[in-house]
Amino acid sequence: MYQRTCAMCHDHGEALRAPTLATLKGMRYQQIYFALTVGKMQGQGKTLSPTQRADLIDFLIGRAQVSDAWTAQLRCTADRRKVDLSMPATVADFGFDLQNHRHLTAEEAGIKTADFRHMDLAWALAFPRATTMRAQAAVVGSTLFLPVADASQLYAIDIAARPCLKWIYKSDVPLRSGVGYGALPGSHRKVLVFADVGTRIHMIDATTGAPIWKHAVHLTSLSNTTGTPVLLGDRVYVPLSASEINVGADANHLCCTTHGAVIALDASTGAVIWTAHTMPDAKPIRDRGDGQMMWGPSGAPIWTSPTIDEKRGVLYVGTGEATSAPAAPTTDSVLAIDLKTGAIRWRFQATSDDVFLTGCMVKHDGLNCPHEGRLLDHDFGASIVLAKRPDGRDVVLAGQKSGTLYALDPDDQGKVLWQHSFGAGSVIGGIHWGLAFDGARVFAPMNTFPGPDGKDAGEVAGLHAVAVDSGTVLWSYYPQPDCSGDRKTRVRTCASVIGLTGAPTVIDGAVVEGSADGFLRAFDANTGELLFQFDTTEPLKTANGVPGSGGALDNASIVAAHGYLFVNSGYGLIGGQTPGNLFLAFHARAP
Ligand code: HEC
Repeated sequence: MYQRTCAMCHDHGEALRAPTLATLKGMRYQQIYFALTVGKMQGQGKTLSPTQRADLIDFLIGRAQVSDAWTAQLRCTADRRKVDLSMPATVADFGFDLQNHRHLTAEEAGIKTADFRHMDLAWALAFPRATTMRAQAAVVGSTLFLPVADASQLYAIDIAARPCLKWIYKSDVPLRSGVGYGALPGSHRKVLVFADVGTRIHMIDATTGAPIWKHAVHLTSLSNTTGTPVLLGDRVYVPLSASEINVGADANHLCCTTHGAVIALDASTGAVIWTAHTMPDAKPIRDRGDGQMMWGPSGAPIWTSPTIDEKRGVLYVGTGEATSAPAAPTTDSVLAIDLKTGAIRWRFQATSDDVFLTGCMVKHDGLNCPHEGRLLDHDFGASIVLAKRPDGRDVVLAGQKSGTLYALDPDDQGKVLWQHSFGAGSVIGGIHWGLAFDGARVFAPMNTFPGPDGKDAGEVAGLHAVAVDSGTVLWSYYPQPDCSGDRKTRVRTCASVIGLTGAPTVIDGAVVEGSADGFLRAFDANTGELLFQFDTTEPLKTANGVPGSGGALDNASIVAAHGYLFVNSGYGLIGGQTPGNLFLAFHARAP
């Protein structure tokens, strides 16, 4: 059954950015079951009877129960169980602040630039049967709120020399996004908001972990929630992405009907206030050649976390490719959306005619594959940054998977002020998940993707510091492959997958970035000097006794507080990257 229904993709995980068979075998029942029934793999799952599905899951993971007994052992003692939220949050959103700067001062982080010269691992937590550590934590005082997507749980962790759990929130399906933190309108109640794989937004009490409301926001069954929701005033702003890109190439799929959106919810109840659609609903548009109709327009999913511009009354998001031709004018774009009404105030389209379905990379003649347009997948997946230039003018910074960084004018309909290309870009290459801004410089990481034919289209992995006022590149760092010693057994793709894909973080005068081959690095933001490097795939002992292994550093996770630097390690969703189940805390040794 695996051979017949899954192998064509999952045996070629590296080329198709799908988890490999080994990674599928490391997953939890809940994750696979959800994917095959209501989630990303529902199309494949539909072809199986319940018995066949059960047999297939048996083949993948057997029937052993996963034990979460470690959580009972790591419970805080009564004196450490209290969640004190009387101080301002250190990390409240994906971008730490509403402008997505991803910047912490030495005081906020409890870490100075010089501390990176003598950082050590303080402790590590491992999560049973997790393969992808995708969600960024929020931090308030000494409590860190960490969603572990694959475990379907969110932990309130007391950060100290010996971590412990204050409370645990359990979801009935796996989680997905990072956490937003804030106060419920008209009350002093502090809350956390995040999304699960079923597009449900969860609002819970930050002091106790008690649920407040849960609301599903999908437009179709292939809608997805990826970017971290933002809680602002009496609203929660939720970006909507889509997984139709991964299943649309299948000739049995009615292609394509899903598009991206931003949804404003009432923070008190979860009721929808407005929905900003990236395009009109899809309709049948033409015979695809076998009497069945192609549907469109579709695509422009939103993977970014909204960036708030209170002064102009808008939020900014980036969009991705079209999934059917012709591509809508809102694809591969930056959108400025009115905070009050959800109307699109302006849009900047960086790439037109980008029509992409993952399966069409290997099977160009599929009935749903585009005959016009360009197969690029050049999303804006990195959250937009609203930056202030040294001369006081605001600029909107947007990094694209095309490898281009743009500075746009928020006062002139998103007119391009400058742009800089760092390479050709690719489906997960270029600027993938984020930028960081330190007040003068924007830091742009570059990822690479070898592609199905193994040829990367002239992409070079790196980290670039760029002057925000001129677009001048101030320094660049280029990682080199490291297959020394037994790294090649720990990191199968150590020779080729070395890109920088996650969102960087600025701490005092240092910029911290992870790489797809498992290295965590910190650089002097001024000079680019490498201050600290740590291989997160090295074997280590975990504080909770669960066997752990590190892998790719991806998406977003690098945060800091109380003198600790935190990072997730492991990302098996993309086949070429190493899975892992670690959450690591670093601390500066006495010099
Ligand atoms: C047409 C290609 C294709 C086929 C066929 C396919 N998959 Fe997938 N699968 C993917 C891709 C691509 C992803 C990664 C999606 C992403 O990251 O958004 C994925 C992801 C998954 C995931 C992880 C979902 C999550 O995010 O939690 C599971 C589990 C999975 N597949 C199981 C299966 C099983 C079991 C089968 C066979 C019944 C199957 N897939 C068939 C392409 C495929």
